[in-house]
Amino acid sequence: MKMKDAAAAIWDKVDDYVTEHLIPYDEVLERVLAANREAGLPEIDVSRTQGKLLNLIVQIKGAKRILEIGTLGGYSTIWMARAIGDGGRLISLELDPHHAEVATSNIALAGLEDRVEIRIGDAVLLLEELAKEKVEPFDLIFIDADKPNNPNYLKWALQFSRPGTVMISDNVIRNGEVIDHHSTDPRVHGIRTFMDMLSAQSAISGTAIQTVGSKGYDGFYIGVVS
Ligand code: SAH
Ligand code: DHB
Ligand code: MG
Repeated sequence: MKMKDAAAAIWDKVDDYVTEHLIPYDEVLERVLAANREAGLPEIDVSRTQGKLLNLIVQIKGAKRILEIGTLGGYSTIWMARAIGDGGRLISLELDPHHAEVATSNIALAGLEDRVEIRIGDAVLLLEELAKEKVEPFDLIFIDADKPNNPNYLKWALQFSRPGTVMISDNVIRNGEVIDHHSTDPRVHGIRTFMDMLSAQSAISGTAIQTVGSKGYDGFYIGVVS
């Protein structure tokens, strides 16, 4: 077994161990993952332990208004929407109508349809529409869609923020490829430009945390708008 495979096998087992101890079995979330698999969705949702982390951050922040960019089957959506309470509101943007359809059904299964709105289309365009609607600032923004557009999503996220808004972006480490300045992968390029933009401004203070687990080696950016 190669070193990398051995390490990944341990990350997987440790994620299971943490899940068994700290994340009570959740019939709805397991049915959501099963529905996603049956519908042929790619298994690129956040892991159970990461979903729980998102839920905790929403609780710690006391966030009531959330913007999510990249819905997939609504797995991360459900983790976050559960923590915003009855009066909370979560808007999630998704390009693929099939993903959005599966997510809509999953969100109904979770009983969260009153607080979650999925908008279908290219997030860049949907964000422009939200601006035209003069949408109120969000308490928390989760960026998790197509990585080449991360620079655009960052611009809009700052626009839809107020002091204290929490910004989280998934997949900013990508197996360490983020430091490869020769990379021709447009996703890596998108993340690197996103990091350069963050580095060049002072409106948001944050960090990136490398993670390993059942979804491999990756990481989150987490910041707070001043
Ligand atoms: N947040 C989800 C995973 C999202 S995967 C979870 O953790 O459960 C990324 C999603 O972004 C995919 O469903 C993909 O269809 C969507 N996406 C890709 N490009 C997009 C775009 N330009 N606008 C909106 N969504 C996009
Ligand atoms: C990809 C996207 C994600 O949001 C993720 O968590 C993992 C992989 C991707 O597009 O490859
Ligand atoms: Mg992701």
